[in-house]
Amino acid sequence: MELSFEKFLLVIHTKEGIDGLMKKWRLFSVLTLMALVLSGCGEPYLSTLRPAGEVAKKQFDMLILSSIVMLFVITVVAIIYITVLIRFRRKKGDENKIPKQVEGSHKLEVIWTVIPVLLVLLLSVPTVWYTFDFGNLSGMERVNENGEKENLVINVRANQYWWEFEYPDLGIVTSQDLVVPTGEKVYFNLFASDVKHAFWIPAIGGKMDTNTDNINKFYLEFDPEKSNEAGNIFYGKCAELCGPSHAYMDFKVKAISKEEFNEWVSAMQNYEEPELNDVALRGQQLFQELNCINCHATTPANSTPADARLAPNLSDFGNRTTIAGILPMTKEDLKKWIKEPGKVKPGNKMYAEGSFSEEELDALAEYLMSLKVGE
Ligand code: CUA
Repeated sequence: MELSFEKFLLVIHTKEGIDGLMKKWRLFSVLTLMALVLSGCGEPYLSTLRPAGEVAKKQFDMLILSSIVMLFVITVVAIIYITVLIRFRRKKGDENKIPKQVEGSHKLEVIWTVIPVLLVLLLSVPTVWYTFDFGNLSGMERVNENGEKENLVINVRANQYWWEFEYPDLGIVTSQDLVVPTGEKVYFNLFASDVKHAFWIPAIGGKMDTNTDNINKFYLEFDPEKSNEAGNIFYGKCAELCGPSHAYMDFKVKAISKEEFNEWVSAMQNYEEPELNDVALRGQQLFQELNCINCHATTPANSTPADARLAPNLSDFGNRTTIAGILPMTKEDLKKWIKEPGKVKPGNKMYAEGSFSEEELDALAEYLMSLKVGE
């Protein structure tokens, strides 16, 4: 149906038009209701409406509080508006009657000054409180009697279009999959190597910008029970438009118990080269000959030369469940990614597009999928 203002005027000025519109409005209201109801059905691992950590919970509470305040204001204003419309309409026979004038009424002035002030206070006190609470980084540098850091600190480096996670106190570098323990505060140093991005794990809290010229810091907490319910996986996103593949700049969070986390740390720290079959060995040879190794590191150690951190660290690539953060982990998808990375993630910096034979692609895929840690 074509909608123009003239048509709209015509429609609302005829009885048939109004009836037709009312029929459609019933449909509209059903659709609106559905949209409202369905928006509550977010995936447990990707929704701000299903908070799974202390920070997200407090942010969610603020969302609810401000929504209630807004609803209250809208309701009161709407009721007054409708009441005035009906009660003070000019009626037949009353054309010359002037209602009681209340301009300058003390009582009314006080009421409509005090109520908004109370509402602003109701909103601002918890906002300021939580702002300082979320900015409290006192635990970031705290050390125990042995001089060891008490809390986990992770350096997040955002790149077009992938994420690097460095555990400076543990000597581990990894990419795309962030691994964290549940039930404790995890502190983050956030920065970017090229343009501005933003680090966001919707179900856990945030988001915060990653900049090139300063380091932003915050902490998050992963609730053990909620993490279990979500299958110990949460999804993370880049939340700042950063280029053509911004929407594909996803990462994964593995939120596991402290024991499992410690196992993971020791597997990463005591990294052993995986055993490679003949095809994978051929892949490894290609990986080096084609200079992939200049940008991609294949060991998780912190000793990795800086120039091998131009692209994601691949030491635990075979443990991941996605390729490039977005494709499912299958050999076919991996070959597609290696062959034409620009088609999967436009504007990304991986090159050597389309110059592989099928045999080379098979070998490279086999090699990359054999890169596993702790299995
Ligand atoms: Cu990085 Cu958007």
